[in-house]
Amino acid sequence: MELVDSHTHLDFPQFAGDREEAIKRAWEAGVRLIVNVGTDIESSRASIALAEKHPFIYAAVGIHPHDARLLDDDALEELKELACHPKVVAIGEIGLDYYRNLSPRKVQQRAFRAQLELAQEMRKPVIIHSRNAQKDTMEIVREFAARVNSPGHPIGVMHCFSGSLEVALEAVKLGFMISVAGPLTFKNARKLPQIVREIPLDYLLIETDCPYLAPHPHRGKRNEPAYVRLVAEALAAVKQMDVTEVARQTLENALLLFGIDPVTLQFSPST
Ligand code: NI
Repeated sequence: MELVDSHTHLDFPQFAGDREEAIKRAWEAGVRLIVNVGTDIESSRASIALAEKHPFIYAAVGIHPHDARLLDDDALEELKELACHPKVVAIGEIGLDYYRNLSPRKVQQRAFRAQLELAQEMRKPVIIHSRNAQKDTMEIVREFAARVNSPGHPIGVMHCFSGSLEVALEAVKLGFMISVAGPLTFKNARKLPQIVREIPLDYLLIETDCPYLAPHPHRGKRNEPAYVRLVAEALAAVKQMDVTEVARQTLENALLLFGIDPVTLQFSPST
């Protein structure tokens, strides 16, 4: 089985002791594409370094809503330079987080808009983080979708989706994929299975968001890319499909969204 993990943070300190082993375990579990996602300038650089070292790892660069206050003109210029790297396949993660509100809302909105503009200029898809901020996220995303106007081609992904079915359907209509993580596997998951049942498999992605959100039965422990298989299995159960087919289609969706040539999949895990 060949799998994608469309959203990881392998550069985070939780992997300091066994980063290379975790990457090796991912490869052995069948993971053939990883997108490691930046949350600030430093982790965006670290994502690129990982991508340079491992052929099956790609990078996204961006400033997380928690750190939105860090996005000044210099940071934006730096992101733009980083985005020119051949293994940078997206701008992210960017968005709004009104759950923790670590940066003021107005500051988050400004940083979100500025990075969407950057993505448009660089012709890259976006990885969107939205928590307790559906209304404002969709308002900004609607403007963005109208501006990029790329019918028939995906323009981004709603990472670790936690919104309503209504929002999911609108996002798909606007050109976004919906990505699901460990919460789909939780015993008390109710809303999320109902939502993914309604979304065609062509618009779904899977991810771990490691080191966070470990799927059942690892819930509460550190997450890692090899566990994305458990997310694929949960999705297959909801869709009443074969897990191999779910893995294949979500990998294909990721290749399409991130504009990655499938021949890269033949490479070994390390250079
Ligand atoms: Ni993340």
